[in-house]
Amino acid sequence: MTASDPYLTQASPVSSRRKFLKQCAVLASLLALPAGEAALFAATLRKAARLPVIWLSLQECTGCTESLARASAPNLESLIFDWLSLDYHHTLQAASGIAAEEARESTLADHAGKLLLVVDGALPLAMAGGCCTIAGQDCLSLLRRCLAAAESVIAVGSCACFGGLAAATPNPTDAQSISDLMSRGLIPERPLVNLPGCPPVPEVIAAVLAYRVAFGRMPDLDDRRRPLAFYGETVHERCSRRGHFQAGRFAETFDDMGARAGWCLFRLGCKGPVTHNACALVRWNGVGNPMESGHPCLGCAEPGFWDRGGFYAALPESVPVSGEPGGKGAELYQSQCIYCHDADPVHFRTATDDIAGLFESGTLRAHRFKLDSEETRALVEYFRESRR
Ligand code: SF4
Ligand code: F3S
Repeated sequence: MTASDPYLTQASPVSSRRKFLKQCAVLASLLALPAGEAALFAATLRKAARLPVIWLSLQECTGCTESLARASAPNLESLIFDWLSLDYHHTLQAASGIAAEEARESTLADHAGKLLLVVDGALPLAMAGGCCTIAGQDCLSLLRRCLAAAESVIAVGSCACFGGLAAATPNPTDAQSISDLMSRGLIPERPLVNLPGCPPVPEVIAAVLAYRVAFGRMPDLDDRRRPLAFYGETVHERCSRRGHFQAGRFAETFDDMGARAGWCLFRLGCKGPVTHNACALVRWNGVGNPMESGHPCLGCAEPGFWDRGGFYAALPESVPVSGEPGGKGAELYQSQCIYCHDADPVHFRTATDDIAGLFESGTLRAHRFKLDSEETRALVEYFRESRR
């Protein structure tokens, strides 16, 4: 504790410190940090230098910034006054015009190689970049320059992650996601974290930024570069209506008795079983989520949102539902495992928690198949469910 500690030099140091520790505890729990790491998280975050950040808003609707402004743990105030040096953000910065552009340019020059770039919105390539310009510069050139000076980049929102609404058919502006631009060699490659959602959950944006500040690295990611802590499960797996799904109780219309009784919205088009997001885990504005408001999940955090269409068209009854018996994990077990192992997973001798590690370690006898991270998760979840 030092005299310059921002949490101990305010009017009420004890309450400020309590508030800070409370925020850290919430963050640690959201990020599913082990107990030891949670204490380290608070200590490190308190001492961490503010991270220079440039936030570029491209072809977007400001929904992602609106979402960030509603974060509560940490809130926007803590983020931008204590942990980040948010040097450039169209909507949030006080400066405008030439002063705003100069702020961005001096950050690019002073923190080259050390700054964090955050991007919301897709990047349109049509009309030689004329569809999206900032202060007279085409955004592709600006993005290239900012990436060249960035140590890593966070794509916030489904447009930046997967193209989103901007890239929906017929995609008149040739809108592209950050990862597509990187894989096509149109922008410099940098470590990339995707936080999809339309918009993303506020606490997910805030927690990932705080994690980067505290630990100097990004959290563990899945194969779509999404943080596992928030996108490792489907919306369905944490949904408060899941018991009704399992019991076969489905609302058939938005105003029938089932809907009024809170039954499952699968037949009203819910995409929760195939959508990875933290909505049912973190809850929007600390209050609820679409399903708790009586509306199905539209799948806004998955690639192809909009083009897949059919917001209220039900998924096929046969869709593999992760976490449910008969879901993807069961299919994998039946198609790949039972040639060598017992047909009943209850008799599988390896501890459930060891299965993923064994697959990744390469110490198992040769298996005829390789699982990607999503398949491994589905298989592990199948064992977990089967052994309950
Ligand atoms: Fe919830 Fe939708 Fe799953 Fe039903 S299908 S339990 S409403 S996420
Ligand atoms: Fe989007 Fe579904 Fe959450 S529509 S906000 S991922 S519940």
